Amino acid sequence: MPPRQLRARAGVPAVRDYVEGAGRAAAELFDTLAAAGRGPEQLHRVLDFGAGAGRVLPHLAALVPHASFTGCDVDARAIAWASRHHPTQRWERSAFLPPLPFEPESFDLVYSISVFSHLDEWLQDRWLAELRRILSPGGVALLSVHGPSAFEQFRQGAARTAWCTRSAFARGPLGPGEFEFVPYRRSVWNAATLPGIGEGYGLSFHGHDYVRAHWSTSLAVLELRERAITGWQDIVICQP
Ligand SMILES: C[S@@+](CC[C@H](N)C(=O)[O-])C[C@H]1O[C@@H](n2cnc3c(N)ncnc32)[C@H](O)[C@@H]1O
Repeated sequence: MPPRQLRARAGVPAVRDYVEGAGRAAAELFDTLAAAGRGPEQLHRVLDFGAGAGRVLPHLAALVPHASFTGCDVDARAIAWASRHHPTQRWERSAFLPPLPFEPESFDLVYSISVFSHLDEWLQDRWLAELRRILSPGGVALLSVHGPSAFEQFRQGAARTAWCTRSAFARGPLGPGEFEFVPYRRSVWNAATLPGIGEGYGLSFHGHDYVRAHWSTSLAVLELRERAITGWQDIVICQP
């Protein structure tokens, strides 16, 4: 079990939530792959983009034991912890901006939980193009986003965060064609909480028509599944 500080950076400080959520998310990714027509036998090289300390990766690796798994993250401490405790998988500390240290077409599956739900549009576009570069032809990406339902939770005050002003949510529901980005309030008090993270990080919210129209300049969007990751974030299924 990673120390509390690393669990908190993944957004799940409580031990029970960390463990239960990890197993559940891995099972949900596995089921989503099946729905996308990808059997486990088609997976050989898998990347967890923004893997943190490896919360989900070992659970998914156990479901696809013949595939090789790599996790990358900007957080050096999280990657060091994951390398020490999960030595059979590959771990890379990556930069906040592309490129990743991988050759083109390196992965059959790239998945990412709770990373695109934090990037502003400029960063999002650069990372979508980078994921396209490292996906093999016929590969698939499963990327989680805050959809309209998560936005509604913040708007109605059922979900809160000290990182953003409440006034940012004083508006109507998120329209299907909208993208909303609320930057994190950074200060000397919380600067150390997000190691490796640069400008353009906060809470982002994706309307589904926005994803279909905007993301398709980098990746073909096959399907959006509402609240498909632990009942909270939506999953976008896409391919190069
Ligand atoms: C909310 S946490 C989720 C961690 C992990 N995916 C999970 O579900 O437990 C977001 C993670 O994304 C990482 N991250 C943020 N921006 C990144 C970037 N540009 N490249 C790689 N990792 C990034 C953070 O360091 C953090 O570990």
